[in-house]
Amino acid sequence: MKYFITTAIDYTNGAPHIGHAYEKILADVLARFQRLRGREVFFLTGVDQHGQKVQQAAEKQGVSPQAFTDQVSQHFLKLWEQLSVSYDAWAATTEEKHRRVVKNILSDLVARDWLYKASYSGHYSIRQEQFLTDKERGEDGSFGPEWGEVVFFEEENWYFRLSRCKEWLLQFLEKHPSFVVPEFRGNELQNAAAKVAGDLCISRPKSRLSWGIEFPFDANFVTYVWFDALINYISFAGYGSEDAAEKAHFEKYWPCDHHLIGKDIMAPAHGIYWPCMLHAIGFADDQMPQLLVHGFWNSRGEKMSKSLGNIVDPKLLTDRYGASALRYYMMRDIVMGRDADFNEERLINRYNTELSNGLGNLVQRTLSMVFRYRAGNLSSKSTDAANNCVAPVLASSSMNETLVEKASSCCAPSTPCSSSPSATLKTDFKNVTLSASFESHRQADLASIKEYCEQMETSQVHAALETIVNLLYRANAFVDTTAPWKLAKDSAAADQLDGVLITLLQSARVAASLLMPIIPVASEEILRQLALEPISLVGDIAIPAFPQNYVAGQPTPVFPRIVVEESQ
Ligand code: ME8
Ligand code: MG
Repeated sequence: MKYFITTAIDYTNGAPHIGHAYEKILADVLARFQRLRGREVFFLTGVDQHGQKVQQAAEKQGVSPQAFTDQVSQHFLKLWEQLSVSYDAWAATTEEKHRRVVKNILSDLVARDWLYKASYSGHYSIRQEQFLTDKERGEDGSFGPEWGEVVFFEEENWYFRLSRCKEWLLQFLEKHPSFVVPEFRGNELQNAAAKVAGDLCISRPKSRLSWGIEFPFDANFVTYVWFDALINYISFAGYGSEDAAEKAHFEKYWPCDHHLIGKDIMAPAHGIYWPCMLHAIGFADDQMPQLLVHGFWNSRGEKMSKSLGNIVDPKLLTDRYGASALRYYMMRDIVMGRDADFNEERLINRYNTELSNGLGNLVQRTLSMVFRYRAGNLSSKSTDAANNCVAPVLASSSMNETLVEKASSCCAPSTPCSSSPSATLKTDFKNVTLSASFESHRQADLASIKEYCEQMETSQVHAALETIVNLLYRANAFVDTTAPWKLAKDSAAADQLDGVLITLLQSARVAASLLMPIIPVASEEILRQLALEPISLVGDIAIPAFPQNYVAGQPTPVFPRIVVEESQ
C-alpha cells in the first residue's frame, strides 16, 4: 500500500505566508495519517525558484537570483521544521536533476511535433507572467489591478499545442469526475476547460528573462516558469532518471494520490496545462494524478495582500503560540475546500477550550486521580476486576442536564464553521446519556475512531477534529457523571473506581492517538505521560486492552493556557 502526496511548490520571491503554512500542514496531516494506516508514504514539497518575479526581486536586492532564492528558501525550510512538516523530498527547481528532466521533456515534445515556434504580439502581465487576451479585460476595456504592470510587445516564442489536447481533456474530465476534489471545483474546471482557445506559450526570450531553464534546442529562450514548475511533481519522484532505484521509486508511487493546491492555481495551471502536458508526454488516462483543491484563508474578510497590509505571518504566530496551537487551529477552523477568515482570537479560543481544557484537563485530572487514589499503579487484579465490573455509579438521568452544562464549560464541542452551536450540544448530550456503562463508553470511543478514519480518508480533517472534540467532551462528562472522588470514599466501590480510571485513561489514549497527525509533538508527549502505546490504525480498528500492570507517568501540563493581556 502506498500513498503519494505533494503540495504546490511555493514561490520564493517573498516570505512564507499563512496560506503556504496551511497547505503544508494539511499535507503533513494527511501524510502522517496515511503512515499511521500502515501505508508507505512519499510526501513531496519544495520551492518554485525561476521566473520574472524572482529575477526582479533579486535585482532589487542587488544579488544573483540563485543567491536570492537560496536565502528565501531558508525561511521556508526553517518554518517547515518548526511546524514539524514531515516531507520526504524537497523539490527546488534550480536543481540539476529537475533541469535535466525538463530539458529532456522539451526535446522529446519538439521531436514529436508538440512544440512550434511563432511570433506573437500582445499584452503581457509581468506579475502573472502570462500574455493577456481580450478575455482578461475588464468592463471598461482595461486590464484590472490584479494583473499588475501590463506591457505590450511583439516577440517570437515556443508554443505547446494545448489546443490539440482540448477534446481529450474534456472527455477525460467527463469520464473522471474524481480528478478534482471537492466536486464543485471539478465543475468549475469543466467550465474553464470548455473555454480553452489556442496554444500555450512556454518560452520567454532571454533578452527579457534569463532566470529560467534554457531550451535545449534554442539557447535564446528559457522555459516559462509554470511549464518548468509543474514538472517538479514527476522529476523529484524519480521520473526520467537513469538510476534504477529512482526509476523504481517512480513506478511505485506514481500516479499521485493528491496534488494539494489552492483554488487560485487549479485553472488553468493544474487542471488544464498539467494533465495536457502529461497526456502529451505519454501518460495514460489512468496515470493522471488527483487534485485536492483547498480554499483560501482571508484576513478580516478580505483577500490577504501586501497592498492591504493584512498578511498573516505564520512564523510570528508559531513563535508566539507554538506549533501545536497553529496546526490545530488551521485544521479545525476551515472546511476542506472552502475559504475561512483567519482570526487570532479564535486560534486562542480553540486552543484554550479544546486543547487546554478539553484534552489537557482530561489527561491532568485522570493522571492526578491515578496518583491520588492508586499511587500511580493499576495492578492486573484491578484491571480484571474493572473489566468485569458492569455497574458503575452513574448519575441519574435527571441530573444529566446540569452535568452536561458543567462538562460543557470544561470542553464544549464548540461551533464548527457550518452548524449551529445548539445543534451540536444536543447531539453530544445524547452521546453522554447513552454511555451508561464502561462498555458503552468504550463502544462510543470505538465508533469515534472509525468515524475519524473515514473522515481523514476523505480529507475532511475539520470533521475528524469535530469527532475528537466530541470524544473529549464525552470523556470529561464521564468524570462528572461517575464522580470518582465519591467512589474513592467507599471501599466497596474499589473495582468501580478502577474501572472509571481505566476508562478515562483509555479515552485519553484514543484522543492522543487520533491527534497524532494533527499535533504530533504534543500527542507523543501525552502518550508518554499516560505511559500507554498509541492505538494502531492499521487494518481492523480496535482499542487495545489496558496493560496488566500499569504504572502511570507524571502529569505535567502540555497545553498551558494562553493568557491574553488586556491592551488597555
Ligand atoms: O502558486 N490561503 O506559488 P504561491 C490558502 N509557485 N492558500 C494559499 C493562500 C491563502 N491565502 N495564498 C496562497 C504558486 N495559497 C506556484 C505554484 S506548483 C507547480 C507552482 C496557496 O507561493 C496557493 O494556492 O503563490 C498555492 O497552492 C500555494 O499557496 C503556493 O502559492
Ligand atoms: Mg500564487
